[in-house]
Amino acid sequence: MTIISVSVPEKLLEHVENSIREQGFANRSEIIRQALRAFITETRSLREIKGEIAASITIIYERGAKKGQISEIQHSFGDIISTFLHAHVEEDYCIEVIVVKGEATSIRKLVEAFRSNKQINQIKVSILKPPKSPSP
Ligand code: NI
Repeated sequence: MTIISVSVPEKLLEHVENSIREQGFANRSEIIRQALRAFITETRSLREIKGEIAASITIIYERGAKKGQISEIQHSFGDIISTFLHAHVEEDYCIEVIVVKGEATSIRKLVEAFRSNKQINQIKVSILKPPKSPSP
């Protein structure tokens, strides 16, 4: 195994330590290995899937974030966004569930744009590939 060093915000590390205690992980390395595997599985399925898909993308960002950048991303992908819902968590955070339909490649580009936006704290993608219509 290779040892890497990673910087994480204090608050995030507190959550990690709590999860280790509550969920019985052996140590920090183990929880990070599992999180990385889950992340790779999630991003791989979006990279490998082809054709028309439906998905929901959930993002969380701080209420004080510059909304402009995030809504700019949403506007530039307006052709694949069907609808979205905006709500608040613990007063300080905005949560948005964005429903998208379209080519998997376009949806992947939208997810990548969200991932590269530093104001977004969390992103969760749930992919649904509708079954092909029966042939006539
Ligand atoms: Ni809000």
